[in-house]
Amino acid sequence: MSTVDTDWTSYAERLADTLRERGDLRSPEWHRAVSAVPRHLLVPTAFEQDSAGEWTEFATAGHLKRVYSPETLITALTNDKPHRTPISSSTKPDLMVRMLETLDVRNGQRVLEIGTGTGYNAALLAYRLGDDKVFSVDVGADLIDLARTRLSAAGFFPTLRAVDGADGLPEFAPYDRIIATCSVPAVPWAWADQLADGGAVLVDLKRAISAGNLVHLRRNGDRLEGRFTARWAAFMTMRHSENPPHANQADRVSGSGQSRSTNTPGKPWNDVPIVWFLAQLRLPPGTTFGYELAPDTLQPTFSTLSAPDGSWAKVGLADGTVTEAGETGLWEAVEWAHDQWTAAGSPTWERLGLTVTQDGRHRLWLDQPDSSTRWNLPDVPAAR
Ligand SMILES: C[S@@+](CC[C@H](N)C(=O)[O-])C[C@H]1O[C@@H](n2cnc3c(N)ncnc32)[C@H](O)[C@@H]1O
Repeated sequence: MSTVDTDWTSYAERLADTLRERGDLRSPEWHRAVSAVPRHLLVPTAFEQDSAGEWTEFATAGHLKRVYSPETLITALTNDKPHRTPISSSTKPDLMVRMLETLDVRNGQRVLEIGTGTGYNAALLAYRLGDDKVFSVDVGADLIDLARTRLSAAGFFPTLRAVDGADGLPEFAPYDRIIATCSVPAVPWAWADQLADGGAVLVDLKRAISAGNLVHLRRNGDRLEGRFTARWAAFMTMRHSENPPHANQADRVSGSGQSRSTNTPGKPWNDVPIVWFLAQLRLPPGTTFGYELAPDTLQPTFSTLSAPDGSWAKVGLADGTVTEAGETGLWEAVEWAHDQWTAAGSPTWERLGLTVTQDGRHRLWLDQPDSSTRWNLPDVPAAR
């Protein structure tokens, strides 16, 4: 380690203790890593958004308590003022550590990280495994340059590359573990190819905003297979250029439609994300959700769905009325998903599993891969 001011170490140790008390961190190795990695050096500045939506940058040095806490620190935004969107961050340390524990990373293993960002997670890995075992890629060349400079100043030298993580990093394969800190609509088979047999990948599979969860898959011969994690998490969407894909656009809900009532909860993306995930089997790609607010209280009164083909649906959150218009029954798709979920016994995430095969097929199952309750996810390219 380089000579850095020592003030921060008590904060880092307290963070490690907090993560252990909360149950996120279980092993002494990760406790030592969290205690030893100077997050403030890897995240010297971060952005915060005020209630008017304005972003301002602040130096983290004066906010060590905040830096060494389970808080995401936004570190890069798109340039499209005034609607700047986060494109990089230092993920919440509690989530990072939970993922490392779930992946069961062991000494001696080689790990590929997709989404270097600030390099904080790469530093945790490098502290634990040694620089020569850690490989990390980011699509942002500027992010990689900054991470490299800051990591080396803090005494860490993992292998970093500015490439599209959808392709993995074949040059240094095979890896024992792949950890992705951005979400993907489909798991790239390139990752399976670069995993040692028995190796594992942990990635946030999201078909649309909020529609999916972290899934922990093992390479088992010709397939990747495993279960979703019990706790829900959300990562930034993998991008293939400067701008983030599927930002939730403002819904286009106008004109009149057919009204009826529904028993399906009006905002599944918030309340029952599994239902929202299953709804993606029927919803047209690009369907987005939103809310209409009461003008006086600014509380959501309706939730809205709209699809690229102009179809829309509006659901009264208090009375369960649905109004739908257009070619595609958007709320019908959500009701279908809710029925599927209820018929399956209202399972929680960890009862759901996923099998990915080389042809790109993603098959979802309940409890066991050969269960009679299975769904084929619509084919989508891993890199869009
Ligand atoms: C939540 S941040 C990563 C946090 C990071 N692991 C850390 O510890 O700071 C997500 C990162 O994924 C990166 N990313 C997005 N699309 C990518 C792609 N196609 N390939 C590689 N990285 C990508 C973003 O640039 C961003 O830095």
